[in-house]
Amino acid sequence: MTTDLTEQVLAAYASTPDPRLRELLAALIAHLHAFAVETRLTPQEWLAGIEFLTATGQKCDAQRQEFILLSDVLGLSSLVAEVNAASDATEPTILGPFYLAGAPQRAMGEQIGRPQDGSPVLIRGRVTGAAGEPVAGATLDVWQASGNGLYDTQDPEQPPFNLRGVFVTGLDGRYEFRAVRPVSYPIPTDGPVGDLIWRAARHHWRAAHIHAIVAAPGYRPVTTHIFDAGNPYLDSDAVFGVRDSLVRPFRPAGPDDPPDVSFVTEMDFALAPA
Ligand code: BEZ
Ligand code: FE
Repeated sequence: MTTDLTEQVLAAYASTPDPRLRELLAALIAHLHAFAVETRLTPQEWLAGIEFLTATGQKCDAQRQEFILLSDVLGLSSLVAEVNAASDATEPTILGPFYLAGAPQRAMGEQIGRPQDGSPVLIRGRVTGAAGEPVAGATLDVWQASGNGLYDTQDPEQPPFNLRGVFVTGLDGRYEFRAVRPVSYPIPTDGPVGDLIWRAARHHWRAAHIHAIVAAPGYRPVTTHIFDAGNPYLDSDAVFGVRDSLVRPFRPAGPDDPPDVSFVTEMDFALAPA
């Protein structure tokens, strides 16, 4: 529904020179106005919303991005990943706030964690292109939380870049690395987004996962996860990041597997052309 006022505001932004900004502003104004009309938003509710967004901004600092967390719990981050997914490629999902650029490159098969981080798991697979061709020299930038549910950046007990590493595929497109079996962990709830979660009677658990950014020259990079099929939060991930195609069994290691791992999981990645 549009009102005369909405039309007036849309007209005021209709000459925005940048065409993409013009398109985004027009849609934003139309949807914001429709929201206020549809809900008959009161001045008190409007002010509560402003105060909530103000508190969200005030919670942000160099280590904490509460606005991204808000986007995450409203499903917007996940939707943006979905809208921008390439067809015939591994499904993308959210980046999350704990990615660190500059993780060390590690040797094929190397363990990214320490014994105290959890049960060792061997993760292996292939990176292929759209026609199924192996992608040699692709990088897998992987990161995960420790068994205590914390990333290295949240936990002074962990050395820098613990549970992070970059692996490079061989000529056959294959990679393998060792990690620890991921655990569910709570998203931060000590800010306004936490208040929202509790008021909505939601829980704050992420389904257990390992993050990966897979990239290679000539291909579109994909930011994604490997989810543990045995995890109880796959259907209710706090930030709506789960995709069925990314869920993998972590099977107990058998006599044919390397003796130093407790679990094995296989994950292939497909990349779309750039
Ligand atoms: C993560 O997976 O690292 C994450 C994503 C969204 C919110 C908090 C953590
Ligand atoms: Fe995570």
